[in-house]
Amino acid sequence: MPQAIVVDQVSKAFGPTQALSQVSLTVNRGESRALIGKNGAGKSTLMSILTGLTEPDSGSVRVLADDADAGASTVGCVYQRSTLIPAATAAENIALARFPRSRAGLIRWPEVTRQATELLAEWEYADLADTPVEQLEPLERKVVEICRVLSQGPRVLLLDEPTAGLDRGASQRLFGHIEKARARGVTIIYVSHHLHEIFEVCDSVSVLRDGRLVLTDQLTRMTVPDLVDAMVGEAAAGPAVAGRRESAPGLSRPPVLVAAGVTAPKLNGVDLGLRPGECVGLTGLDGAGHMQLAEVLTGQRPIEAGTVTLDGRPLPLGDIRGCLQAGIGFTPEDRHISGYVPALSVAENATLTIMSRFANRFRLISGGRRDAFYSRLADEWNIKAYGAAQLTEELSGGNQQKVVLARSVATDPKVLVLVNPTAGVDVSAKNSIYGTIEALRRDGRAVLIVTSDDADLEVCDRVVVMVHGEVSAELRHPFTEGMIAAAVQGGGAVPDRRLPGEEDSQ
Ligand SMILES: Nc1ncnc2c1ncn2[C@@H]1O[C@H](COP(=O)(O)OP(=O)(O)OP(=O)(O)O)[C@@H](O)[C@H]1O
Ligand SMILES: [Mg+2]
Repeated sequence: MPQAIVVDQVSKAFGPTQALSQVSLTVNRGESRALIGKNGAGKSTLMSILTGLTEPDSGSVRVLADDADAGASTVGCVYQRSTLIPAATAAENIALARFPRSRAGLIRWPEVTRQATELLAEWEYADLADTPVEQLEPLERKVVEICRVLSQGPRVLLLDEPTAGLDRGASQRLFGHIEKARARGVTIIYVSHHLHEIFEVCDSVSVLRDGRLVLTDQLTRMTVPDLVDAMVGEAAAGPAVAGRRESAPGLSRPPVLVAAGVTAPKLNGVDLGLRPGECVGLTGLDGAGHMQLAEVLTGQRPIEAGTVTLDGRPLPLGDIRGCLQAGIGFTPEDRHISGYVPALSVAENATLTIMSRFANRFRLISGGRRDAFYSRLADEWNIKAYGAAQLTEELSGGNQQKVVLARSVATDPKVLVLVNPTAGVDVSAKNSIYGTIEALRRDGRAVLIVTSDDADLEVCDRVVVMVHGEVSAELRHPFTEGMIAAAVQGGGAVPDRRLPGEEDSQ
């Protein structure tokens, strides 16, 4: 079998961090290889070495080296972080790599839009073609990114966590495209923390641990626990999934947060109550309104009608700072864009919302006190950085996510709204995040997890499902993934329209 990708003894260090050590692997033509490992294992670094974006310190890579027809566009990569141009439209971004030109060399704009619209139509997003990317939702941006790579008809496809931020429908569509690419003989490397996905998409798997290749095998010979063992290493086997607790301390108390009749674009009269000590899941298909409701509750979006109160007082909707001060902590949907400031250190990012606490009477920030506070947060959330001063943009994707999570609790909030809290996070970090959420819940805080990840929903006391801007169902344990899948499609349980807490607050 001819080899498509050859990685030979590749090493790469970033300052004190050895991201890759002597990694060698080969992927055959037409093979679909999963690349997995914990956060910071070196996966994204290897991907960017394969595309030439990053130069290895030693060793070499060859991609389709003995293929005479291999041209510049033969390798397509969906990077973990967005590479779209914000001010350009979706169509322009998709056409970026290969503008259709007239014989005189002029760009044929109608053709640009037509081709991009066709591609987007396959994802049911044809109407986005002329929208500047900066106005798109995170999920839509990811779809544009994937369409751009697929439009080039690559013969090697590198996908770095392509489903992070996608909902179920979009993920299934992506798998359909990957299947078609495989049928055409395209070689694929697929990075994901969703281990069940890789059994759907790949033939074989390579596992990185601390920058070293520890295993390569056919997936038919592997199970999910085998993969977890290889990723984590025996010594570091993580705690079991936090599981669901029986007694929630505040469940008999009246709700701390009450949303009633909330109406805004994509939201039609939504009611929701959160009690202290309760962890509630909020889910739906893309555009169902759950993301919009999260934005309302965190001050990012004003409403047209309805009320939201926290401890009986109206929340200053549409005012992020006001909501924060009132006691709402949150992680935004897109951590790469609104989650953190790339060029600030991890300590600065994690404490951004409470900076004034570390100021002395001359209004100077005490770096020492801030770093001490940060190191507590870093322990609690298991952040892997080489120190408080490391720039956040240098962390691996999963560790950046943990910085954003840590900041959401720095303000000591009464209500936490966590959007996709475990996106891009490895299995053991996922469990430690669930453990931390559980501790917050025990501490009497109300947690709203807005997500389409079934594992996130599993740790919730109840799951509220939205369809077309309305609450369509409410599921309580025991519920199954199948029940959630049915409910998000609109075929769910009978809606529970009564406000939680109504019976004791009225
Ligand atoms: N530009 C950089 N500067 C400094 N350190 C970096 C840089 N890029 C990556 N690193 C470090 O190299 C290591 C490997 O990072 P990489 O992004 O490859 O991990 P990953 O396996 O993709 O993790 P994740 O699952 O969290 O995305 C990490 O410790 C990371 O902090
Ligand atoms: Mg990565």
